[in-house]
Amino acid sequence: MTTVFEARNSGVSAVQGMSIRARVRMGSGGWGASLRLSSMSRAGLDKNPREVAEMFDGVAKGYDRTNSVMTLGFDRRWREWSRRVLDARAGERVLDLAAGTAVSTVEYAASGAWCVAADFSLGMLLGGAHRPVPKVAADALHLPFADNSFDAVTVSFGIRNFSDTEAALREMARVVRPGGRLVICEVSTPTFRPFRFVYMRYLLKILPFIARFVSSNPDAYKYLAESMRTWPDQRALGEIIARAGWDDIAWMNLTGGMVALHRAIKPEPAGETATVGEPEPGE
Ligand SMILES: C[S@@+](CC[C@H](N)C(=O)[O-])C[C@H]1O[C@@H](n2cnc3c(N)ncnc32)[C@H](O)[C@@H]1O
Repeated sequence: MTTVFEARNSGVSAVQGMSIRARVRMGSGGWGASLRLSSMSRAGLDKNPREVAEMFDGVAKGYDRTNSVMTLGFDRRWREWSRRVLDARAGERVLDLAAGTAVSTVEYAASGAWCVAADFSLGMLLGGAHRPVPKVAADALHLPFADNSFDAVTVSFGIRNFSDTEAALREMARVVRPGGRLVICEVSTPTFRPFRFVYMRYLLKILPFIARFVSSNPDAYKYLAESMRTWPDQRALGEIIARAGWDDIAWMNLTGGMVALHRAIKPEPAGETATVGEPEPGE
């Protein structure tokens, strides 16, 4: 079987933007590892990878619970839809990128597919340490995987934080085989105009306030709300996906367009599609 990622003793590979300084020391009972989290509280809208990673380290504690509270439990339905659209099958290899605590990865893995969670926040990956799926520390813009090594790649609520969306989509296309699938679940633009006004103008503004009661890093929710407000709408994201080289792009709105699921296919290389034609004279 082909090795698709660099394995290290720790089970993670080194990445750019890594925000946790890891010290390994020898204890009386053998090797022990201690991790020191840095204290970056929020990232800026330039989405500096180091700041983003450090910010997620800061929200990792209790992330899953905060997420459920902030989305009024809708996150479960959105994940369920992502799973259905991804349609992973036994024997397939699936990359769940920006997987955080691997809450979505375990859901995809229930299909029998081999699913790996990748994220550049070690804090988030450690927060999901109890989830029985392989985890890799990796930056979406420099994936430590070979070309064409996955049948599908998916990102839920992560792509909005990448410093270069199009470059990350090209990198995802590199690691997916021709004919392989992309599924993106991300916040988007509500379709009903009056609700869109209220949502953009008021609801996003109260998120950081609610976060004060439930998050380990409420400041981070200021960035998250701002990044939601400035994120491209459904069509604009579809166009970025197309520019990055993906085909057959389609999207569906969930919860009135507050969230959208985009799917796409990696094109077969030109000239390699099977054609059935008349035999050449003399054949
Ligand atoms: C809002 S969380 C979503 C986590 C998970 N996918 C979910 O649905 O709950 C966003 C995640 O994206 C990760 N992330 C952001 N930029 C990244 C990058 N360039 N490479 C890898 N992970 C990234 C963060 O560390 C964080 O864990």
